[in-house]
Amino acid sequence: MDSQDVYDDLEEVLYTADQIQARVDELAADIDRDYADKDVLIVGVLKGAVMVMADLSRALTSHITMDWMAVSSYGSGTKSSGVVRILKDLDADLMNRHVLIVEDIIDSGLTLSWLKANLESRGPASVEICTLLRKPEAAKVSIDVKYVGYDIPNKFVVGYGLDFAEKYRNLDCIGILAPHVYE
Ligand code: IMP
Ligand code: MG
Repeated sequence: MDSQDVYDDLEEVLYTADQIQARVDELAADIDRDYADKDVLIVGVLKGAVMVMADLSRALTSHITMDWMAVSSYGSGTKSSGVVRILKDLDADLMNRHVLIVEDIIDSGLTLSWLKANLESRGPASVEICTLLRKPEAAKVSIDVKYVGYDIPNKFVVGYGLDFAEKYRNLDCIGILAPHVYE
């Protein structure tokens, strides 16, 4: 294999593209069922949630609208601090809307608990969370996540939207980054 191949930087593939697609389809079926009689606004958190938003939204059969937010959590290196700054706010007014936040991964949960409270303050009918991945740390903060793709080990993962230093987002699978990449 070419040593420039980005897939060579993975220590292990956790989920293949086919596995992710199948799981996303299951989540979409749950969401379709739960929101059968409601219009839902799905809110993707940039940039990591781009892939899951693209696949999840296309697997939904009910009426939805889509919007995007970009947030950055202050903090050093790979740990978030819970202090969040909005880089790009929603275009949509949330008043009386059913909002479903779509995330790539919940690690400490600090970013998402802040975001959920922020959106809840805007008068929506409901705010729920869908995340493709969740790490065990997330269990330590009280955050109610309605839809979870996979609970994963406490390892740094990349691919399918998830980055390390802005790279690897384009991988079609999700894998554990090999230590030689960052050591
Ligand atoms: P937290 O839940 O506030 O700790 O932060 C979650 C954010 O940290 C996610 O939205 C990702 O941007 C980033 N993050 C956490 N764990 C990983 C990982 O394993 N790979 C890539 N990004 C991660
Ligand atoms: Mg993210």
